[in-house]
Amino acid sequence: MNKTALITGITGQDGAYLAMFLLEKKYRVIGCYRRSSTVNFWRLIELEIFEESNLVLVDLDITDPMNVCSVVRKYRPNEIYNLAAQSFVASSFENPVITTNINSLGPLYFLEAIKLIDKNIRFYQASTSEMYGKIQNPSQDENTPFYPRSPYAASKLYAHWITINYRESYGIFAACGILFNHESPLRGEEFVTKKITLAVAKIKYGLQKTLYLGNLNARRDWGYAKDYVKGMWQILQAEKPDNYVLATGKNETIRNFAVLAFRTADMEIKFEGDKENEIGIDIKTGNSVIRIDKKHYRPAEVDTLLGNPKKANNELSWKATTSLEKLAEIMVEYDLKSIGT
Ligand code: NAP
Ligand code: GDD
Repeated sequence: MNKTALITGITGQDGAYLAMFLLEKKYRVIGCYRRSSTVNFWRLIELEIFEESNLVLVDLDITDPMNVCSVVRKYRPNEIYNLAAQSFVASSFENPVITTNINSLGPLYFLEAIKLIDKNIRFYQASTSEMYGKIQNPSQDENTPFYPRSPYAASKLYAHWITINYRESYGIFAACGILFNHESPLRGEEFVTKKITLAVAKIKYGLQKTLYLGNLNARRDWGYAKDYVKGMWQILQAEKPDNYVLATGKNETIRNFAVLAFRTADMEIKFEGDKENEIGIDIKTGNSVIRIDKKHYRPAEVDTLLGNPKKANNELSWKATTSLEKLAEIMVEYDLKSIGT
């Protein structure tokens, strides 16, 4: 019989790609979304899976424990992927309580539901490289100590440890993927890569003059979301539940990602000036296309992240397959097409 997977956060970037991946594997997918006044299924439509008969969309706000229990009881999935979160780090400084309610208590409700309803259900928790925060080792793996730097990271750290605790206490197959940044054309527009690639397209078509960014020196280990959702599935197919880092093993600055993205649209950028006076200039036109706006600085920054995916490589045969240059190209080409039509 085909397996059933329940995905929370189906309207988000990873939820949509994971649903597509699992539908291709012939899963029945219970896609959970929270009701809002505006319909929010554009990613599922974009991936052409919205009309799939094996995709069942279910109204579920993960901050409601009764709602979580009744959905788990009704659909009795084989696997649960908890991807729902308030996932924007900057917002978590403004909304720390709601961030914690969603990111920390949501997974706890699922773990309790599994404990009470069916301990055979496998559970995936979307842990994050943000938990390393002020890094304690130049490259981070499953054994690197955590040092969260935002309410978001702290909330995810609780979820990470409570998942491990239910694994150890009740023998539940509860696993954590510690994923480093992963991006795609379907990335939310507030995240820096998408903000940059969208601006590249708009500047190219004369619809925007300047892109305002924050800290250009931050470094991230960026991969392609499509590679990473496969890793989530592999983590739940392992022999035993565990924690796995998924990353590329390379990192780059925001500044250099911007250079790559503009280059894809035939614009060479040079940087001049320092700190908040730094500007990015389009060499051909002389226009200042990048400027700094301090409002994008964070109260506490994660300066650099660099993942070591060796364990996932060795035990799951998982590997990130998309270079940053290719990722920038995929994202810019998508945005050029969507802005140009
Ligand atoms: P995303 O695009 O921001 O999607 C988040 C999803 O969570 C959306 O579908 C959102 O629904 C849903 N959600 C938020 N609050 C909810 C609630 N109370 N009840 C039900 N659903 C709720 O995030 P993503 O990039 O796909 O990331 C997926 C997960 O991986 C998140 O947990 C994130 O923290 C984690 N993660 C992401 C990365 C990355 O680089 N992308 C790296 C490590 C970990 P709405 O559409 O209604 O807002
Ligand atoms: N969003 C944003 N906007 N970030 C900017 C900007 C800007 O204008 N300018 C500079 N940055 C810097 C941020 O300060 C941060 O250091 C870096 O760019 C990346 O920011 P985001 O793209 O917002 O991602 P993130 O690293 O904070 O968080 C993402 O990755 C995490 C995994 O490490 C999110 O997807 C999290 O949910 C995820 O857990």
